[in-house]
Amino acid sequence: MEMFRRTFAEINLDHLSHNFFEIKKLGGDNRFICPMVKANAYGHGDIVVAKHLDHLGASHLGVCLIEEGLMLRNEGLKSKILVFRGFDKQGAQKIFDAQMTPVVSTWDQITALESVADEPIKVHVKFNTGMNRLGFAPQEAEKLRTYFKTSKKLKLKAVLSHFYLGEDAVQTNGHSAAQAKLMTEIHSYFKDEDVWAHLLNSGGIASLAEPEVKNNPDHFLNKTNWGFRPGLMLYGYSPSETLKSMNLKPVMTFKSVVNNIRQMNVGETVSYGATWKADKASTIAVVPVGYADGVHRLLSNRGKFLFAGKEVPIVGRICMDFLMLDVTAVVQSSGLKKFTEEEVILFGYDQAGNFLSAEVTAKAAETITWEVLTAVGERVPRHYKGGQS
Ligand SMILES: Cc1ncc(COP(=O)(O)O)c(C=O)c1O
Repeated sequence: MEMFRRTFAEINLDHLSHNFFEIKKLGGDNRFICPMVKANAYGHGDIVVAKHLDHLGASHLGVCLIEEGLMLRNEGLKSKILVFRGFDKQGAQKIFDAQMTPVVSTWDQITALESVADEPIKVHVKFNTGMNRLGFAPQEAEKLRTYFKTSKKLKLKAVLSHFYLGEDAVQTNGHSAAQAKLMTEIHSYFKDEDVWAHLLNSGGIASLAEPEVKNNPDHFLNKTNWGFRPGLMLYGYSPSETLKSMNLKPVMTFKSVVNNIRQMNVGETVSYGATWKADKASTIAVVPVGYADGVHRLLSNRGKFLFAGKEVPIVGRICMDFLMLDVTAVVQSSGLKKFTEEEVILFGYDQAGNFLSAEVTAKAAETITWEVLTAVGERVPRHYKGGQS
């Protein structure tokens, strides 16, 4: 698309490679790893990210929707694509035709696959161990074992579950420990068939790197070679302030360039609703990015962005296409002219290497890093740097 405003998300593929290899290093050899590229690869652009991960050697990729998987197949991706959301008969047909791998959570889905598969298809079976969203009840394990022993069409490749509080996986008596215990019991039903078990999201994976776990071979995370499904950490952020042992590099920089600068007199207000009033002569930078681009409106009069390497406050309400920053303190010391084309970093790195974390933005907007990344809008072009030439 032709671009007439300089607002974009810069995606550093070298940082993505770095994070992927950090995760692989932690997992060691023979670990099932399924990088999650659902939701447009957490806002980073699923096609480029998936191709890059494929190039790095990722054997599996995780999507939520069938349509996300189909798009990757249409782009020529050959990796195994796990579809997590579930499906009806029509969806089963699409999954089968596109040779994707269904994550199965109900008997109806098994029936749907049986009815469309005219040759054997490998499936992963999900169990509900406490998230209470998708998955078979653990009590179904016996019946499922019997079914898979005799089914000619469906071949069980893996069982899985999902942590709902992965950041507590360091603790040996937490929610994750209880879920892992259940999964160990479930997995024991399928062990003879050489079925994998995958369980760890970023919380679980990052916990493995913490000294209490790393140095304790008896920790439940070390007792089984639990498969990894990294999402957030792949894109460079830790899932919790308490999990900081991994060396991750943020992949996305969301940035814009000042549209115009205005001088405000005492008593003048900024933006809709007049929620901010100048209490002194002020310099306001107008930035061409707004809530239609994924900037959370709750950041109005609360958030801070990077301007000339300094954190400056958002003033007034964030508009659909614009937001305003109070740059008085920065401009006063250096003169206005210098800043007419100044870069603004919503999160990520500026050209001098200053960094503003998406975690800070998430906190100010009372949300989570996952949402800040995935919210970056469709009309924000992604520019890729690094990676293969
Ligand atoms: C089934 C499943 N596995 C793995 C992940 C990755 O989670 P995270 O981004 O916390 O690593 C998700 C994300 O929501 C998920 O739904």
